[in-house]
Amino acid sequence: MSATGLQRILVTGGAGFIGSSLIPELLNRGNHVTVADHLSVGKKQNVEPFLSKDNFDFIELDLIDGNTLKDVVKKCKLVFHLAGNSIVKTGYSNSEIDFFNNIVATRNLLENMRTSDGCKKIIFTSTSAIYGEAQILPTPEDYGPLKPISMYGASKLACESLISGYAGTFGIEAVIFRLANVVGPSNKHGVIFDFFNKLAQSDGKYLEILGNGTQKKSYIYIDDCVNALAKIGLRPFDSGLEIFNVGTDDQIDTNSIAQIIIAEMGLQTEIRYASQQNDGRGWVGDIKNMLLSTEKLKKIGWKINYSSNESVSLTTKKMIENKYNTIKKFDVKSSPHSLVL
Ligand SMILES: NC(=O)c1ccc[n+]([C@@H]2O[C@H](COP(=O)([O-])OP(=O)(O)OC[C@H]3O[C@@H](n4cnc5c(N)ncnc54)[C@H](O)[C@@H]3O)[C@@H](O)[C@H]2O)c1
Repeated sequence: MSATGLQRILVTGGAGFIGSSLIPELLNRGNHVTVADHLSVGKKQNVEPFLSKDNFDFIELDLIDGNTLKDVVKKCKLVFHLAGNSIVKTGYSNSEIDFFNNIVATRNLLENMRTSDGCKKIIFTSTSAIYGEAQILPTPEDYGPLKPISMYGASKLACESLISGYAGTFGIEAVIFRLANVVGPSNKHGVIFDFFNKLAQSDGKYLEILGNGTQKKSYIYIDDCVNALAKIGLRPFDSGLEIFNVGTDDQIDTNSIAQIIIAEMGLQTEIRYASQQNDGRGWVGDIKNMLLSTEKLKKIGWKINYSSNESVSLTTKKMIENKYNTIKKFDVKSSPHSLVL
């Protein structure tokens, strides 16, 4: 407990997309929040609105350096551990990035929790990528064997194993959330952000899709995701380690995402395909068909508000409202570019 009597929560990676959206939820529930982030992807401006609050502080640190964490961890009661590499593609060109930012960073955090007096609970954001190319869809939490096909998925599964080991051996309590693709207007990576930037670069003339566009996945809106993390993560525990999938009940393919964005912008755009992989996937490690079962989460009261289609549409509308890299609207009649999908 802090001097004010509030619960002190550490949010690692709190300057990133999901972390900065989670902060208001935790503050509104009467907690003190400390964000630790090394700002490789996250931005200080994402936590700027909270800096003037008495029950918030920000520390710039790298979790790979375990020593710098010690003082931060010992002041906190529980940790939302969101820091890590979040981009699947990078593992192919740099096989170290997931190892250090996910596995080493998580091990350092757990070790500091183990040696602390009172910081014994971790809420971890894992990923659907740990299932690899699951043969059962929607995939339940007890699906196996787990065979991730990316360095990202492998590293997240290794983090889950470490957390399980620390739970079994040292009594650390843990909730692991396996997230589908999370979308929202403040996300600075992923397919929607990528398409907005590509459209701006080509002035709306063409859009390059990685893969053949038939990849089907679940896309959850940020508010639904944050609601699961805060509501379920903060509730009293039934056991030392709990695992929940977080996603929508449906899927959307990449071609349809492109269509939604192009239509919302009022463009006529030529679609081009960069099939980097022969079987149509967008990159090495890309999963072509992903849908998670969320029955377990629903049984304990979590409700979802947006489907995948609605999540993509809402994100697109808000990005246009916020004027994120929007381009001048084309006069559809006079535009020489055709929509080829
Ligand atoms: N966004 C998604 O679709 C999605 C899906 C599944 C799982 N996740 C996981 O949820 C978490 C949050 O995702 P996000 O979309 O907000 O990603 P993000 O990249 O926006 O945020 C991650 C943050 O962690 C920080 N970070 C990375 N390595 C660090 C280190 N060594 N020390 C300190 N800070 C470090 C980055 O600077 C960044 O601010 C990630 O662990 C990600 O793998 C995200």
